[in-house]
Amino acid sequence: MSNPTEPLLGQVALVTGAARGQGRAHAVRLAGQGADIIAIDACAPISGTVTYPAATAEDLTETARLVESAGRKILTRAVDVRDLAAMQQLVADGVAQFGRLDVLVANAGVLSWARLWEMTEEQWDTVVDVNLSGTWRTIRAALPAMIEAGNGGSVVIVSSSAGLKATPGNGHYAASKHGLVALTNTLALEAGEFGIRVNSIHPYSVDTPMIQPDDMMALFGKHPSFLHSFPPVPLKSPNDGQSGFMPVEDVAEVVAWLAGPASVAITGTQVPVDAGALKY
Ligand SMILES: NC(=O)c1ccc[n+]([C@@H]2O[C@H](COP(=O)([O-])OP(=O)(O)OC[C@H]3O[C@@H](n4cnc5c(N)ncnc54)[C@H](O)[C@@H]3O)[C@@H](O)[C@H]2O)c1
Repeated sequence: MSNPTEPLLGQVALVTGAARGQGRAHAVRLAGQGADIIAIDACAPISGTVTYPAATAEDLTETARLVESAGRKILTRAVDVRDLAAMQQLVADGVAQFGRLDVLVANAGVLSWARLWEMTEEQWDTVVDVNLSGTWRTIRAALPAMIEAGNGGSVVIVSSSAGLKATPGNGHYAASKHGLVALTNTLALEAGEFGIRVNSIHPYSVDTPMIQPDDMMALFGKHPSFLHSFPPVPLKSPNDGQSGFMPVEDVAEVVAWLAGPASVAITGTQVPVDAGALKY
């Protein structure tokens, strides 16, 4: 039986894109469930085509402070998920330090805006390299260690509502996030024999620096019909202040559930974390 208040006690979770936003919330929530944490982030600009501010080394230090104040250990490192060798070294060092790896939250991602026939090659390549290929590289680095540890485990792939529907204005992002569904479901079939579950989550409109309302308004001003694809959510979160966006903590609750024993029978699923928006 697992400990009901700390179901991940004695386990180790790797979270990518953990310097801020959803990734930080996942690291802190999983630590609250008892897990020690391996937290990485690029902590640097990813490309000139990503126009919102980049996460910093100080952001990742703050994640470490929050995990430690939850009473857990953490290994942090500035690593880009596009660098397989660096991800493999990180996993080797994390396993050397903590002894095992049980949970992977592949969360790192980037967003930019343009119509498909107008975007630059760098816009396309950056989004697909980070969101899709970077997630595969994360899996390539982490799964051997999870299998080797022999304890089973849980992989949570952070896709998006844009992984389940069309999102005009960011077709490269939607393509990368749809690709994650294929990655998730294939890995679920391949890793099941090792007791490793694999699911994707599909958040919508979460309150992080990735979402720049002014940029979106400028796009909708130019292409008013695109607005239909980005509706206000039907469900008001009890945790939302006034932003109208989903608090990161609400997403972290779902990640903690998928990481922990309460979802033991769930693998190869797509879990919308959309406050009902996909029903419009
Ligand atoms: N905010 C939303 O509304 C929303 C909705 C659906 C899905 N998502 C997805 O959620 C995930 C987290 O995004 P967020 O909303 O917290 O935004 P965010 O920009 O605050 O966080 C993303 C983090 O990933 C890191 N990162 C980006 N590229 C990286 C790379 N190559 N290597 C390592 N780290 C990298 C960034 O530095 C940043 O800290 C992303 O995959 C995003 O696509 C976000």
